[in-house]
Amino acid sequence: MKIFVTGCAGLLGANYTRHLIEGGHHVVGIDDLSGGHKAFITKGENFEFVKLNLERRKKVEALFEEHRPDVLLHFAAYAAEGLSPFIRNYNYRNNLLCSANLINPCITYGTKIIFTSSMAVYGGQETPFTEDKQPMPIDPYGVAKYAVECDLKMAQTQFGLRYNIVRPHNVLGIYQNIWDRYRNVIGIFIRKTLNKQPILVYGDGEQTRAFSDIRYYMEPFDILLNEFDGEIFNIGADKFFTLNHVAETVQSIGSKYGYDVPIEHGPPRHEVKHAYCDHTKAKTLLKFQDNTKLEELIESMFVWAMKQPNRKVKDMEYEITKDIYDYWKN
Ligand SMILES: NC(=O)c1ccc[n+]([C@@H]2O[C@H](COP(=O)([O-])OP(=O)(O)OC[C@H]3O[C@@H](n4cnc5c(N)ncnc54)[C@H](O)[C@@H]3O)[C@@H](O)[C@H]2O)c1
Repeated sequence: MKIFVTGCAGLLGANYTRHLIEGGHHVVGIDDLSGGHKAFITKGENFEFVKLNLERRKKVEALFEEHRPDVLLHFAAYAAEGLSPFIRNYNYRNNLLCSANLINPCITYGTKIIFTSSMAVYGGQETPFTEDKQPMPIDPYGVAKYAVECDLKMAQTQFGLRYNIVRPHNVLGIYQNIWDRYRNVIGIFIRKTLNKQPILVYGDGEQTRAFSDIRYYMEPFDILLNEFDGEIFNIGADKFFTLNHVAETVQSIGSKYGYDVPIEHGPPRHEVKHAYCDHTKAKTLLKFQDNTKLEELIESMFVWAMKQPNRKVKDMEYEITKDIYDYWKN
């Protein structure tokens, strides 16, 4: 198949593009390198990289006209949920309007979309989240993801657009951006440890999250290329841990490699305390099996991170600064 992958320099895109090429597909990867790194993009015969900001609607249209892809895996986003109230405009441009710029040509050229939404659409409801729960996001990132979900459904009804939605959560693996101050908690803990800085846990650290290994997402995505239409699937780990446990795990792996750092606590953030999903649907219909071994996974990321250049951590330009957390002040 001819497949478009947006966000090919990011965690999901860089890993899944490699898998697609191994499977004999022809892939055009699109990324503006705002949140991913050029070094993470695959190379090879059946792959073409296009550096493009998806805000450029006409350029996106032209790319579709040239290649007429069978499927689009839309991974590109800026997934900094906690930061999204401080960068509302950027959040909606990047996560919602860029998606609209892709949905248009998918309608025109009959391209099927696999859209990665987020567990953020569920907000602070009772856990575990099942796909049939009415979304109730509590921040602009969750609103943008939910708006795209609604828009896909409308485009299906009106134009027969084919799509599926995956709501992943807390995915980990190599090619993750660990140089971002605002997202990817385990990546941040690893970077701090490598820089011999204290690991900072927001609040009491008793919030829980379930982390999953990117490797177990490949088969479900493969199935979605050809099967199902208009379906939503939660994908991620069942086993959840407190952030205190995660911080201690990174700390002890750091010590093993000669990086000893303390753990500190900062003020709590506006975030849900417990967030994890039910994955019965993905296990039943997409053969999803999560065999994540968190400690081993963190250690493999740590070893990978040790070999990376110490990339610059960038500061975002905030649109408002009211009530911004002390630890995010520039
Ligand atoms: N990683 C997770 O735990 C997780 C959890 C829930 C949802 N998701 C969703 O899955 C998708 C992939 O996540 P990820 O972890 O791989 O993210 P990532 O940040 O690692 O990768 C996203 C990529 O998109 C690119 N990008 C961003 N805005 C762009 C734009 N305007 N034009 C072109 N490229 C742009 C970035 O440069 C980056 O390389 C995202 O949509 C995210 O919201 C991820």
